[in-house]
Amino acid sequence: MLVHLIVFLLAFLPNLRCISNNILRLNIPRIPKLDPNTVCKTYPDLSEKQYDLCRTYPDVTASAIQGVQIAIHECQFQLTEYRWNCSSLERKNKNPHSSPLLSKGFKETSFAYAISAAGVTHQVSKACSMGKLKSCGCDMSVYGNDKNFEWGGCSHNIEFGSRYARRFMDSKEVAKDIHSQINLHNNRAGRLAVIRHVKKLCKCHGMSGSCELKTCWKAAPDFRAVGAILKRKYEAATQVQVDISNSANAKLIKRNGRRPKHLELLFYEKSPNFCDPNPVVDSPGTTGRLCNKTTTGIDNCETLCCGRGYNTLRVKRRERCDCKFYWCCYVMCKTCTYDEWVTVCK
Ligand SMILES: *[C@@H]1O[C@H](CO)[C@@H](O)[C@H](O)[C@H]1NC(C)=O
Ligand SMILES: *[C@@H]1O[C@H](CO)[C@@H](O)[C@H](O)[C@H]1NC(C)=O
Repeated sequence: MLVHLIVFLLAFLPNLRCISNNILRLNIPRIPKLDPNTVCKTYPDLSEKQYDLCRTYPDVTASAIQGVQIAIHECQFQLTEYRWNCSSLERKNKNPHSSPLLSKGFKETSFAYAISAAGVTHQVSKACSMGKLKSCGCDMSVYGNDKNFEWGGCSHNIEFGSRYARRFMDSKEVAKDIHSQINLHNNRAGRLAVIRHVKKLCKCHGMSGSCELKTCWKAAPDFRAVGAILKRKYEAATQVQVDISNSANAKLIKRNGRRPKHLELLFYEKSPNFCDPNPVVDSPGTTGRLCNKTTTGIDNCETLCCGRGYNTLRVKRRERCDCKFYWCCYVMCKTCTYDEWVTVCK
């Protein structure tokens, strides 16, 4: 099927230039065999528990890994105006979770965890209902008649997706320290961003679309919407500490002494300014970033360039755009070319 898709694209859109890369480094263009040797051994830095899980469910894990990639991609879209824009998590043949930033406790760290957990939930749920995975199918618990429609069709298996996301992501957090507790919390917030925004899709039947009969099913929200929800949570992220007055059962508390809500993103370390390159926090710095000299937003040149100033250049800029993630394991992007005046941070 994938081969057909590519052939289709190339045949009908001759001007479309595609860059494709494969996430798992499997050989394209045949549909890859998703067995433990192709999936678990090619993806770097799986923890021991993740590796075991992968050996048992290689196809679900491939889908989970694809979910993480989609999440990192979305993270870059959502944070495009920020000094730290998530691009450092997307390196070829690297597991984004091995980034030094993910062992920190910044707001940015919390966003990366939450959106990754959301990506896994989303992607596995969808893959189940597409009939791609051995261990799951459509969510069959959704059936029966409602007021003026009937539940039917294939509901996305959010239950299975979120359970797998939990096993796959949370299994890394074995320590009982604040870092692990916060990661677990943010992972859950990410899963909830998908679960709580499940939507109902319907199809009409009956004479010429009269919609006398309607069949509906549950579907995961668009991942773009999930990204936007989590971005708002990121902007409102809350600093927490461990409540030491209650040492028997250490809990995370906010500065006002309250317990955080499930959907809040939590951090415990003040972020650096991300102005300069610093490998310790996975910051590439902002030199060379496009800034906007007229906006009052966060991407204005003064803020984004950290007061270093900017250059105005005429450039032919090529950028990947309209990326699509195909089952399993490919990203295909168009290349968009812009010829324009830009302001770029010194
Ligand atoms: C993110 O930042 C990196 C380097 O700091 C830059 O190369 C990249 O183009 C930026 N991405 C977006 C989407 O702005
Ligand atoms: C800069 O920001 C202004 C105001 O938000 C916006 O109208 C304009 O399109 C932006 N320019 C670029 C190049 O992004």
